Amino acid sequence: MVRLPAERIRALRAEIERHNHAYYVLDRPSVPDAEYDRLFRELEELEAAHPELVSPDSPTQRVGAKPATELAEVRHRVPMLSIRNLDAESFDRQCREALAAEGIAYAAEPKLDGLAVSLTYREGRFVLGATRGDGETGEDVTANLRTVRSIPLRLSGDGIPQELEVRGEVVLCRADFERFRAAQAAAGEKEPVNPRNAAAGSLRQLDPRVTARRPLRFFAYAVANPEALSLSTHSATLDRIAALGLPTAPERRVVRGADGLLRYYREIGEKRDRLPYDIDGVVYKVDSLADQARLGFVSRAPRWAAAHKYPAQEEMTEVLAIEVQVGRTGALTPVARLKPVFVGGVTVSSATLHNEDEVRRKDIRIGDIVIVRRAGDVIPEVVAAVADRRTGREREFVMPQRCPVCGSGVMRLPGEAVARCTGGLYCPAQRKQAILHFASRRAMDIAGLGEKLVDQLVERGLVDSVAGLYGLDGAALAVLERMGDKSARNIVEALERSKHASLARLVFALGIRNVGEATAKDLARHFGSLARLMAAGTNELEQVPDVGPVVAESIARFFAEAHNREVIERLRRSGVRDEGAGAAELFAAGSAASGKVFVLTGTLPGMTREEAKALIEAAGGKVSTSVSGKTDFVVAGKDPGAKLDRARSLGVRVIDEDALRHMLSE
Ligand code: IVH
Repeated sequence: MVRLPAERIRALRAEIERHNHAYYVLDRPSVPDAEYDRLFRELEELEAAHPELVSPDSPTQRVGAKPATELAEVRHRVPMLSIRNLDAESFDRQCREALAAEGIAYAAEPKLDGLAVSLTYREGRFVLGATRGDGETGEDVTANLRTVRSIPLRLSGDGIPQELEVRGEVVLCRADFERFRAAQAAAGEKEPVNPRNAAAGSLRQLDPRVTARRPLRFFAYAVANPEALSLSTHSATLDRIAALGLPTAPERRVVRGADGLLRYYREIGEKRDRLPYDIDGVVYKVDSLADQARLGFVSRAPRWAAAHKYPAQEEMTEVLAIEVQVGRTGALTPVARLKPVFVGGVTVSSATLHNEDEVRRKDIRIGDIVIVRRAGDVIPEVVAAVADRRTGREREFVMPQRCPVCGSGVMRLPGEAVARCTGGLYCPAQRKQAILHFASRRAMDIAGLGEKLVDQLVERGLVDSVAGLYGLDGAALAVLERMGDKSARNIVEALERSKHASLARLVFALGIRNVGEATAKDLARHFGSLARLMAAGTNELEQVPDVGPVVAESIARFFAEAHNREVIERLRRSGVRDEGAGAAELFAAGSAASGKVFVLTGTLPGMTREEAKALIEAAGGKVSTSVSGKTDFVVAGKDPGAKLDRARSLGVRVIDEDALRHMLSE
């Protein structure tokens, strides 16, 4: 069958619009992207071959228009009115009185926080799109609105009216906004403050190609000439235009009486943060169009509609100061102290600014008027400074060079966003964390020194730093909550034992940033004593395997901090061993186990797996968890597992604990 190009073009356009509708309005893609692209290309090719058949309502023409020099004015035939703010009870009372009726049916809808626009369809074709403007006169944004995929260029279905003027909101959905904001930030472009502003900026572009790249959405909420559809209610009118292909908010519903309105208000309020778009309230409308006509207008607003707002999620307030907080791990966080403001349902008087770069990027200054946002349970955020409220007296924030809590030096390592206090062993803000880490199993292994106990020790002033631990005695401990004589004695013994921990454990226990267990072992092996490690410069530190410039810098800064050195000196005076274990640790390179790979299986009679691992590693060996061709020895104890079978099948040497000990002492 030979089809005329005009016929094929018409069929392609209808099919593409159908897929658009399924994708952008119903959120239910009806074809794979590749098939969509194929149809689109076929249409483009046919139109290129037959330019006389190109028409502005073709899907290929969404981004067709050339940049404008200005946006033309459009006078609204029916003014775009504003709406009164009322709560559910007051609105229902007024309607009942005016209509002398009870149990009134209302159309309840979310109040989308975007931009009001008006779309005119003539003979089912989208011919004019305008912003609200002052309600009487708006701007012609037809070319921009054509790029919005959820706006049909042609209406579909039966009973398309000769002329239809639809009103609704253009929004950026939150997820799309976040992506857009991130892309702008990555490109070094100005970041939008919120979805509403981003939508407004996108809609009023002079170049529709720019708008086309912004993922705008449209939701219809009214028809300016409902008589064209001859229906008796607002809700049926919206159902009808939805059937013609126009998107409407899925949350809209018909409810009855003040109770119905209030229930709707609460339900949407509860869902608010999970909705795909920002809303600032709900809108109530008398559903019967005849009743709407009877109610008429008060000044510039209809008597048959009301907006019931939720607490604002954004407010303006002043930055009184920018303070710096020190976290448990030494991270310095700038925090804006704000003139208290009621936002998102609570009074907010401070908000985190995250880090130094964030303050620079947002250019927030002390004394600025800023927009504060608190959505749902999310912590309050300073969104932006209001530039045109600047007086010139605002002051820029500078990250302090010394920790505001303990006065130690502050460092910011290359590649890190966060500045940190280097006085990890000394800083009161980091005290609890430092002690817990110091005492942890893989560090000094002081059993019994858990979080609750550390809290008490620090809060009662019994321990000022990790060095203070060694001044504790049984009597001091026994008076603490949940602490009997026996547990107190156990802790004192564990403390005593810990004095003989390996140098690697001690180095790890100091909690130097970027020095984990493996690096601590390498450092202990390389330097053999804490004194030598402390004396090393960054060049020498970088000689150690896996220690690069960042780690070297971190170590050097830690030991350069006098406060830390004092604590280390106190540790030494308390009897904490700060030298390597002698032969095994210092001269590990010469041991028979050095450079060999061990796998442990089963229970060893005289040592725990942890101990065996520590000994092997101290002797320069490695412990791996699975047997492979690279394994040198499998150390098998009682009830060995499948690893033993695998060792045998691979021909790997299997040894017992005695043989291991012998090898380690060689
Ligand atoms: S009805 C005569 N319904 O709120 C009443 N407005 O209207 C016409 N808005 O900026 C408006 N969601 O863009 C109506 N479901 C909704 C709405 C809504 C948001 C906006 C509208 C305008 C403001 C006042």
